[in-house]
Amino acid sequence: YFANVPQAPADGILKLSVLSRADTNSTKVDLGVGAYRDDSGKPWVLPVVRKAEQQLAADPQANHEYLGVGGLPALTQGAQKLIFGADSEAIKQQRVYSIQTISGTGANMVAAVFLKQFKQPADAAVYISKPTWGNHRSIFETAGHVVREYRYCNYTTLGLDIQGMLDDLRAAPRGQIILLHACAHNPTGIDPTTEQWQQIADVMQERSHFPLFDCAYQGFATGDVTRDAYAIRLFVSRGFELLVAQSFAKNMGLYGERTGCLHAVTALPAVLPQVSSQLNRLSRATISTAPAYGAKIAGTVLQDAELYEEWLGSMEMMSRRIKKMRNLLRDKLVALGTPGSWDHVSQQIGMFSFTGLSKQKVDRLREEYHLYMTDDGRISVAGLNSGNIDYVAKAIDAVVRS
Ligand code: LMR
Repeated sequence: YFANVPQAPADGILKLSVLSRADTNSTKVDLGVGAYRDDSGKPWVLPVVRKAEQQLAADPQANHEYLGVGGLPALTQGAQKLIFGADSEAIKQQRVYSIQTISGTGANMVAAVFLKQFKQPADAAVYISKPTWGNHRSIFETAGHVVREYRYCNYTTLGLDIQGMLDDLRAAPRGQIILLHACAHNPTGIDPTTEQWQQIADVMQERSHFPLFDCAYQGFATGDVTRDAYAIRLFVSRGFELLVAQSFAKNMGLYGERTGCLHAVTALPAVLPQVSSQLNRLSRATISTAPAYGAKIAGTVLQDAELYEEWLGSMEMMSRRIKKMRNLLRDKLVALGTPGSWDHVSQQIGMFSFTGLSKQKVDRLREEYHLYMTDDGRISVAGLNSGNIDYVAKAIDAVVRS
């Protein structure tokens, strides 16, 4: 039976973590997986998360009962306000349903299965940006969708190919599902401007496309959660029906706790019970009920005004440190006279930089310098710190020159 199962291709990001963990060289620098590190290269538990954990540990009423099928209300309601705004008309009009998921990946998968069953037209494809997060194609193909690409990155300037993107969205048949990164695009770090988002919304409206937002980095693009929700709130204000996959892995540092939500915004309040009943059914069939621990932490932070303010400060701090590292890396490459232009490193935003380094140079950096980045030349800027940045700049300089 099992002999007929073909080997699956390795996941590019997870494969890298395995290689890096096995590398014991003292000069090793891991810029692979998108996970925040502090200036000494260590995982950072946000102080508000520690405080929420302490509150939970001290609560004599705390238990390990199942959550309800929709998840923890303190989380889903707080998450909803974070994405759509505390004064959101859509929330007030009861046009939003939010269900807790296994972080952003689980939210994408619930969305994928839901859309496979209910998409209109039934043969609509899912369009992903070229390039996108390595797992997107796998999730939507696993759920049975045809996956197509729209142009996104201009590989010459390493900026946004807005004309290519708009042309591809316009040329697609009506009513396709368009996966958009809400902010801090992974892997490129290139986001549309507010004007470009309006152009994207115009074309999507003209073509009756369905927006599915993936929001894994709210707070990391600009350091401000409201500005980072601009695109989603624009589409909601324009009357789109849409889905949003939301992760608390990065912005609350809850990576392994798998904490996230899927939000559905409907045009009419009357259809919300139908939509929510189907999302609940799909979630029950796949995970039964969502994991409680991360949800309790995130729910506590989102519901407590003081902790919430402190959390905003921590996000701002993380995004500031990443920006500082971007500028430092660019400055060091310029100072070394490394051939090429490096301004894109400081211009891109979020956790990643799309360096433009070829696969062959990426391989050499790993083999000769113990420097890990994904095959497409993406670095997790959060892995840079004052202790390794000189080494990284010199290593890049050396492989670019030879
Ligand atoms: C990444 O892109 O590195 C992160 O989103 C982690 C992951 O699960 O791939």
